[in-house]
Amino acid sequence: MTLLAPSILAADLSRLGAELQDCERAGADRIHIDVMDNHFVPNLTMGPATVDACRRSTRLPLEVHLMVLEPDAIVPAFVEAGAELVTVHVEAVRQLHRTVAAIHRLGARVGVGINPATPVSLLDDLLPEIELALVMSVDPGFGGQTLLPHTYQRLRQLRGRIDALGSRCELEVDGGVDRDTAAACVEAGADVLVAGTAIFGAVGGAAGGVRCLLERIGREGGTTGQ
Ligand code: DX5
Ligand code: ZN
Repeated sequence: MTLLAPSILAADLSRLGAELQDCERAGADRIHIDVMDNHFVPNLTMGPATVDACRRSTRLPLEVHLMVLEPDAIVPAFVEAGAELVTVHVEAVRQLHRTVAAIHRLGARVGVGINPATPVSLLDDLLPEIELALVMSVDPGFGGQTLLPHTYQRLRQLRGRIDALGSRCELEVDGGVDRDTAAACVEAGADVLVAGTAIFGAVGGAAGGVRCLLERIGREGGTTGQ
């Protein structure tokens, strides 16, 4: 089953709790929190306090996507705040095995993200050690961008590699996932879809956005109004 992870980058932060509850009720599987440092990417967003606010607003697992250069020092604060999975970028970390091991020692699952211009083969040797590979389908930094078409080929390549290894590493795609691209991402092998604008910018709000994407990937949405 393909999982759906709403990215709160596109949420109305003045009513974050209600947005998260809408996602949960509509059948979302986990919450994706984008952390940007104005160095690795040209934007500045959320910190551990936001993760803590999410933790107190939903029972869904929280995944933190660190678009942060050399994030080692800040990772413990995110895990302490409630991150169940922490994703770092292959381009942002100098000693990836050390960082992966440090996150595992904190008791969190580990994801490694890769930008659209970085060869996906760079992840090959890491796949047996990590729980999630995050294929960026746009250059990271902003929501609302258009999925780059070579993403599908990159997903297929990693899917093949993960399956050949017999690894249980999840394959996630992030950026420009919407009602038109979601099914093709699943077909190319994605296990987890991240979506911001397509969910929180949907007419009728986040619950409708979640249900629409779930339908597109052949899943029934959750119940509403409870
Ligand atoms: C982009 C972030 C994404 C972003 C996706 O750098 O990593 O998670 O929120 O937003 P949409 O779905 O609007 O492309
Ligand atoms: Zn993200």
